[in-house]
Amino acid sequence: MSSDLASSSAFEALSHKIETRSARAGVIGLGYVGLPLAIAIARSGFAVTGFDIDPKKIVHLDARRSYIDAVASDDLATEIDSGRFVATTDFGGLAACDVIIICVPTPLTKHRDPDLSYVEATSRAIADHLRPGQLVVLESTTYPGTTDDVVKAILETTGLRSGTDFFVGFSPEREDPGNQHYHTATIPKIVAGDGTLALSLMESFYGAAVKTVVPVSSNATAEAVKLTENIFRSVNIALVNELKTVYAAMGIDVWEVIEAAKTKPFGYMPFYPGPGLGGHCIPIDPFYLTWKSREYELPTRFIELAGEINSAMPRYVIGKLAEALDIRAGKALSRSRVLVLGLAYKKNVADIRESPSLRLMELIEERGGKADYHDPHVSEIPSTREYQHLKGRVSVTLSREVAAGYDAVLVATDHDRLDYQAIAESAPLIIDTRNVFARLGLSGDHIVKA
Ligand SMILES: NC(=O)c1ccc[n+]([C@@H]2O[C@H](COP(=O)([O-])OP(=O)(O)OC[C@H]3O[C@@H](n4cnc5c(N)ncnc54)[C@H](O)[C@@H]3O)[C@@H](O)[C@H]2O)c1
Repeated sequence: MSSDLASSSAFEALSHKIETRSARAGVIGLGYVGLPLAIAIARSGFAVTGFDIDPKKIVHLDARRSYIDAVASDDLATEIDSGRFVATTDFGGLAACDVIIICVPTPLTKHRDPDLSYVEATSRAIADHLRPGQLVVLESTTYPGTTDDVVKAILETTGLRSGTDFFVGFSPEREDPGNQHYHTATIPKIVAGDGTLALSLMESFYGAAVKTVVPVSSNATAEAVKLTENIFRSVNIALVNELKTVYAAMGIDVWEVIEAAKTKPFGYMPFYPGPGLGGHCIPIDPFYLTWKSREYELPTRFIELAGEINSAMPRYVIGKLAEALDIRAGKALSRSRVLVLGLAYKKNVADIRESPSLRLMELIEERGGKADYHDPHVSEIPSTREYQHLKGRVSVTLSREVAAGYDAVLVATDHDRLDYQAIAESAPLIIDTRNVFARLGLSGDHIVKA
């Protein structure tokens, strides 16, 4: 059989399976991205197998218990009970999947280089079971070129060819944890493929599961779209963080400036300052592009400067805390007890990855102070790579008496489920990095913005 005929039959067969929803999807990596995606795909009528190397996750899923805020346990149970979703650690099941989606972590190494070891290991696991007529999609955030140069290259070691025997695509994830308005199925999805047949399969598969698909011309372009979105956030957050420090020195309130500036109906988009960047994406993804740019001998000064400014924020906040303790309470930070409010990196979620709150606690203790935390979403600090010494600390139960017992309360994350009025009335000194008290109309000499 000629290779063209083979390609067309592999494509036709998969196309037909997608159209009739008889294709089985496999989602590898059932975390913040993979689990909501697996459920959205199951909901659109496909049978889905979820794969993860963590057996604890499979135990939770089998018991119909979701461990991701964006997926309700009831919705998980519906998909499991209907037979459309099953989770396993057995990668042998990959052979039965027609569409395989990779949602594994893409962190940085200790030296802040891309760590593609999870993507590579997963690609090798897929290669072990690769057969003609499969579509393999990377969703993990990464530098332009990864899908074709790493994933496709590993899959082609089997002797099968991308674009004829099997198909390869990239579709970046755009989850926004805690967002009440948008979820996996309603966020427009960028899709790309290695060649026209792969792109066509990507459009029809994702078109079945999400409301809007946005095709682009190559996998590298789609990879660049994702990085552009996150670099845009990182740079703009760095800009308002810098403006915050400058305006504070001039006695100008940056939050008041932003509120007024955003009344301009065009040409301005509000970003808000804070205690530093957090989460798995914004502090990390920009450095994937920085790393790749070195290959082209091109500097990425904007990206690196933004990273520098954002990572200096926890230290700036601690400087403000020490100054306020000194001036307002006549107390040194080294002899103070500080309650950090909000451990998660953003409001109303439980995710503490890269959270600046951990760095704030560390800095307080490095200077001899004592740091506790309260977070309604995080009962205990789990094991983390960088803050192992904070592991096992538990969220203190918050009351007026407890708040009053600390020398200062430092608001790092403005969760909605906190009684800010009671905190304003009981804490002797408040450092507010989120402007939450002013937003709620609470003011006083003891509330200091930082
Ligand atoms: N969290 C977000 O909001 C978000 C948004 C956009 C993009 N992303 C990107 O999506 C990717 C995944 O991020 P996440 O937040 O879902 O991570 P996560 O840590 O929540 O989930 C990853 C999952 O992959 C599993 N895993 C690790 N190695 C594996 C392997 N070899 N085989 C199978 N499973 C494996 C882990 O056990 C975990 O359950 C990353 O590239 C990230 O940058 C995340």
